[in-house]
Amino acid sequence: MRIAVVGSGYVGLVAGACFADLGHDVILVDNDERKLAALKNGQVPIHENFLPELLSRHRGHRLTFSDDLQEAVRLSSAIFVAVGTPPTERGEADLSYVESVAREISGAISDYKVVVEKSTVPVYTSEWVRKIILRNGTDPSHFDVASNPEFLREGTAVTDFLFPDRIVIGCDTERAANILRQVYEPLTSGSYYERSDAIPQPDRTSIPAPIIVTTTKSAELIKHASNAFLAMKISFINAVASICESVGANVNQVCHGIGSDSRIGPRFLNPGIGYGGSCFPKDVMAFRAVARECGYDFRLLDEVMRINEDQRDRFLRKVRSALWTLRGKHLGVLGLAFKGGTDDIRESPALFLVQALLQEGCKITAYDPAAMERTQETMVSGLKFAGSAYEAAAGADALLILTEWEEFANLDLNRLNQELKYPIVIDGRNLYDPEVMAAQGFTYYSVGRAACHPEGVPAALRNGAKKA
Ligand code: UDX
Repeated sequence: MRIAVVGSGYVGLVAGACFADLGHDVILVDNDERKLAALKNGQVPIHENFLPELLSRHRGHRLTFSDDLQEAVRLSSAIFVAVGTPPTERGEADLSYVESVAREISGAISDYKVVVEKSTVPVYTSEWVRKIILRNGTDPSHFDVASNPEFLREGTAVTDFLFPDRIVIGCDTERAANILRQVYEPLTSGSYYERSDAIPQPDRTSIPAPIIVTTTKSAELIKHASNAFLAMKISFINAVASICESVGANVNQVCHGIGSDSRIGPRFLNPGIGYGGSCFPKDVMAFRAVARECGYDFRLLDEVMRINEDQRDRFLRKVRSALWTLRGKHLGVLGLAFKGGTDDIRESPALFLVQALLQEGCKITAYDPAAMERTQETMVSGLKFAGSAYEAAAGADALLILTEWEEFANLDLNRLNQELKYPIVIDGRNLYDPEVMAAQGFTYYSVGRAACHPEGVPAALRNGAKKA
């Protein structure tokens, strides 16, 4: 099938590359000349597993890049709209890019097309897109508007696309549904997975991919409700972690206990410094706004956001209580990205904490396997960068772990202890077992678990006050 994907951000680029890998001819459209030139030259603008491989496999063959939206529409049967929907000041999704694409598309529709929302949009968007296209003179029998939300996580977006828990297509006509079924047929029939060059199947996925066909409005709601629910799960466990800290319980044990109930499930129950990224904060806010507009006061979502902000403040208080005064203290920071496996720093709780600590007068040396360049571009006076986790720790009064990179969970603890001025680790991602850390000579603070101190050190000398 010939497919146009409009917008070459995270979602558009991954979707375009994956559609090409399914065997479709894809035109990726963007109005950013520099971005297009970089893509045509073989650059990969985001840090995403398997994406370089797919782009080099299909670039110039099944995947082409263009700034001519109308031409791309004329050549395609399905047009996936994956442009940005940034939040407005009031927390609503700004749909002006979606609207302008809808307007421009309409001039190029002369035979039947499905216009598919891929961006995360409020529940009434498909109706508006339809109205805009009609208003601009398109014959109503020449198009349908459908919704096909994505559930891609950054870092694993390609495998999330190719091995999804489910594919949701929201269509109000059988004709549109059939086109979208065809688009995903290699995944739903399983033929993709039989190919010798298929991207390898990750753990915990099952194939072939199930498809759920709904109305357009239901599909739009599925996306917002899914992200809001996941954010709620994280805020819930963060609130439980706070109670654990007050009473001396261990949040890991609590997670294991509640997550073993198959109705609840163990995933997205990791406490930490709160969720960040380009989706959860924006989508929870937008869903809150959508609900309000629909006449429902979704106060639960206010609480989800409040707990999330509070979680960062709690972590700051933890740093203060571990180090007493902060002005002039040297801190090593591991992690700047909003989560492990990505170079994305949008709404990163790690960065928020770094900024707050710099404001308090701390001197920070940070290391992140992928996000340092981006951090350097956007901020932050006074922040130093290191070439490794150990270099970030060298001579520091304490080490903070702020992003759940796998490499931070496998550090050489002896070496780390030697590098730090005081062996204090404040772990916002619970990457280590407190008892192991204490046995290795660390004073160790984490989230929802009691602080641990080096074995055999008299209480009077604890809190890292002395180093042999
Ligand atoms: C999310 C959704 O998972 C995805 O389905 C949607 O399409 C886009 O938004 P993403 O933003 O890439 O994906 O990251 P995700 O892995 O969901 O993590 C979001 C944030 O929550 C990160 O800051 C992460 O560190 C945090 N998180 C996640 C937790 O604090 N605890 C958890 O248990 C899981």
